[in-house]
Amino acid sequence: MSFDFSGKKVLVTGAGKGIGRAVAEKLSQCGCKVYVLSRTKSDLDSLVDDNQNITSIVADLCEWEETKTKLEKLEVLDGLVNNAGISGHEYAAVDCPREYIYKVLDTNLMSAINCSQIVAKKMIEAKVKGSIVNVSSIGSVGAFPKGLPYHMSKAALDMVSKQFALELGPHGIRVNSVNPSLVMTPMIREVIDKGIHVDEIITSRSSISRLLELHEIVNPILYLLSDLSTMVTGQAHVVDGGCLSNITTKA
Ligand SMILES: NC(=O)c1ccc[n+]([C@@H]2O[C@H](COP(=O)([O-])OP(=O)(O)OC[C@H]3O[C@@H](n4cnc5c(N)ncnc54)[C@H](OP(=O)(O)O)[C@@H]3O)[C@@H](O)[C@H]2O)c1
Repeated sequence: MSFDFSGKKVLVTGAGKGIGRAVAEKLSQCGCKVYVLSRTKSDLDSLVDDNQNITSIVADLCEWEETKTKLEKLEVLDGLVNNAGISGHEYAAVDCPREYIYKVLDTNLMSAINCSQIVAKKMIEAKVKGSIVNVSSIGSVGAFPKGLPYHMSKAALDMVSKQFALELGPHGIRVNSVNPSLVMTPMIREVIDKGIHVDEIITSRSSISRLLELHEIVNPILYLLSDLSTMVTGQAHVVDGGCLSNITTKA
């Protein structure tokens, strides 16, 4: 699918690997000036080497003030993709330590609030009609074993989208979630390596019996960032091959 982002500027968090990296690459190919933020410098260096119009920002989003200082230096943006996240499927709900819950919430939820505040304030001041996309999950509406902090974080992220959409709408700024089922990324490989076969579970529940390809979540994110979706805001966009709508199991 082709989009035109010429003259636009977008920040993608968690762009070193997986979905965020693919979004940054596609935006760059579509003429966008892209700011990529992540923790591992070498990931960002290779992204900058291989793509035009990409500028890297090394930061740990869990460091609220440090992130704020770095992002406040950026020019006014047209778009933000709050994509950074960790899986957080380590403990049964009854055993999950407070510190671990906070770590997942800091990474998956609070970071999106921090980045949205910084980017949106500048958009408002400059009267830019921008778009913010929060990368949530089907885990925002369905539970999975040992998923207490992850699923809480994504359910709350969907409400962050709605709340910001309500308050930023009058300024012409749209805010949406995308909620993918499963894409094979380093995060998912790590989960499978721990013996949790999420790929088989998702495939067996999806009416389109396969995982998502990266472009099948990248394109919806670009659609939400683009002027093709100018009246779409405050929504959670499930992209799951029919997984959530299925109440049957395959024999
Ligand atoms: N893959 C899926 O099937 C799937 C499904 C539903 C939702 N999602 C969501 O999609 C998003 C991306 O997932 P992914 O599978 O692409 O993950 P991934 O392959 O693990 O990539 C995550 C990226 O986020 C960065 N990151 C993590 N914590 C960070 C922090 N504190 N500060 C800055 N950067 C940080 C990582 O950097 P480092 O490697 O340097 O830490 C990495 O570049 C996540 O929000 C995830 O919950 C994914």
